[in-house]
Amino acid sequence: MGTDRVKKVCIVGASGKLGQYMVRHALERGYEVVGVCRERSVAKLAAFEGRMTVVPGPTNDPDVIRRAVAGCDGVLTVLVPWGVQQYASGTAQAVLDHAPPDARLVFSCGWHITRDGKDQYSRMFTMGVLVASVLGKLVRAVEIGDQVEACRRVFASDTRWTVVRGSTLEEGESQGLPVWSGHVGDPVLAGNLTRRVDFALFMVEALTNDTLVQEAPAIVGCRTPSALAHNTGPHDSSPHNTA
Ligand SMILES: NC(=O)c1ccc[n+]([C@@H]2O[C@H](COP(=O)([O-])OP(=O)(O)OC[C@H]3O[C@@H](n4cnc5c(N)ncnc54)[C@H](OP(=O)(O)O)[C@@H]3O)[C@@H](O)[C@H]2O)c1
Repeated sequence: MGTDRVKKVCIVGASGKLGQYMVRHALERGYEVVGVCRERSVAKLAAFEGRMTVVPGPTNDPDVIRRAVAGCDGVLTVLVPWGVQQYASGTAQAVLDHAPPDARLVFSCGWHITRDGKDQYSRMFTMGVLVASVLGKLVRAVEIGDQVEACRRVFASDTRWTVVRGSTLEEGESQGLPVWSGHVGDPVLAGNLTRRVDFALFMVEALTNDTLVQEAPAIVGCRTPSALAHNTGPHDSSPHNTA
């Protein structure tokens, strides 16, 4: 899809940190922006008042999503494992069910999501995810298994999806478009750090990058030592596949 074909985008989870960066990037590209966020979080979008439309409501509410995505060429969805109410899978399902059939759908998640089981994780990473899953469920605050289920549904769909898998994140000024690989464990990703603003940049760029359709890129900052060691320039988003 060419840049000119994207005119209107919906950002689901617009009030979060990643969401707000995506709103900024989308507005900079001249897109018409519709944001969805929980009613109590609408005030977090005050800086964009008059420049975007906000549809308040739970992002896993099919009716809220149906109204928000109407007429959109792209939908950027933040999948979060918060709560114990199948929020991530409900959100993904609502987007899959109600987005216009030709829309580009771009979802965010972390490296812990695997599409084909060929990702290679360090023992420390695997332990960390396990501990977060068990503890999060015990205190009824985090449901990592539901984020996995959300992505499973996206992977199984025949829509024009991309699932962007983020490394550890940090704040800071943009360094440019992250580089990506199809599999965690690829040496180019060893740096395991991405600026959140650049994660958002990758999400928004994916709307117009057809090579990412039905791909699950794992990303890393383009200025990390591992990315630099693999001769990737700041705007090189070519895949560095281990496959
Ligand atoms: N944090 C990391 O280090 C990291 C690493 C790799 C990948 N990622 C991925 O990056 C994306 C953004 O993550 P982030 O950590 O940077 O968070 P974020 O952008 O601040 O987004 C958090 C989102 O979760 C919502 N939220 C918070 N508590 C909630 C609850 N109890 N019920 C429902 N929604 C709730 C927020 O909505 P409100 O604004 O309404 O509160 C907001 O939309 C996610 O897809 C995550 O998997 C994060």
